[in-house]
Amino acid sequence: MDISDSEFVKIIDTIRSFCGYDFRDYSNKSLMRRFLKILLDYRITASELIHNLSVEPQFLEEVVKKITVNTTEMFRDPLMWTDLRKNVLPQLSQKHTINIWHSGCSSGQEVYSMIILLAEMGLSDKANLYATDLNTDVLEAAKKGVYKYRFNAGYLDNFDKVFVNNNPLIDKGEIYRKYFDIDVATDRIKIHPNLLEKPVFAKHDLVNEDNPFGVRFDLIMCRNVIIYFNYHLQGRLFTMFHRNLTDSGILVMGVHESIHGEFLSLFEKSNYHYQKK
Ligand SMILES: C[S@@+](CC[C@H](N)C(=O)[O-])C[C@H]1O[C@@H](n2cnc3c(N)ncnc32)[C@H](O)[C@@H]1O
Repeated sequence: MDISDSEFVKIIDTIRSFCGYDFRDYSNKSLMRRFLKILLDYRITASELIHNLSVEPQFLEEVVKKITVNTTEMFRDPLMWTDLRKNVLPQLSQKHTINIWHSGCSSGQEVYSMIILLAEMGLSDKANLYATDLNTDVLEAAKKGVYKYRFNAGYLDNFDKVFVNNNPLIDKGEIYRKYFDIDVATDRIKIHPNLLEKPVFAKHDLVNEDNPFGVRFDLIMCRNVIIYFNYHLQGRLFTMFHRNLTDSGILVMGVHESIHGEFLSLFEKSNYHYQKK
């Protein structure tokens, strides 16, 4: 399987002209990997892919979902969550309400981690959570809050790193058990129903749309998303996030992502977060 440079451009153009999703400013390297995987999955050539994209809307929708990388986990990067617990949320707790946007929330584990952290800090009542993603399949999973037990049990350690290490009064696994119904036999864990109602989930495309919620945010989480975008698109997003943060609002990105160039002057970096200047 191979994709020439001109086929690569044609795939992106075909998607854009038939459904408006614009992958021109995604990183070419990661896009090429996704396209090659799609050819393998469907056992088709690049020219067949281009043809099918232009005649089958359903297929096009499926391909768009396959392009996005949805890997996520509960309390991913515990040191970042510890920074939120120790430094960011105590500062925001002084506010009357705390508006939080999870942009690129995938199947919701990041959102429920935030809800659990807020609950543990007694901040649930004043927090409003908004969570968006381009991929509607992961959003549907996020709304359900049902995950595989065995897979997520591997991340139990993350809960303990954020909470237990700092508090000898909490038992290992206690936080996890407190917020999930666990059914080992069916390999399912389900977030408690009262927590499901907390976030507003919505489809949103970071490439083409501004903040859809009409509020400014005290905290924007956009983690492990811009890593798939090129330099130019990353810059556009830094400006968009800056504009939609409240004064001194906080932006958190993935631990391997950072603000670059002229955009650095818009924020002050501290530990794992950026504060709007
Ligand atoms: C690797 S996941 C990160 C999930 C979570 N934030 C975390 O760090 O664990 C990246 C998410 O970004 C979403 N995404 C990619 N392009 C997007 C776009 N243009 N607009 C909104 N979401 C996008 C993907 O669908 C995917 O769910």
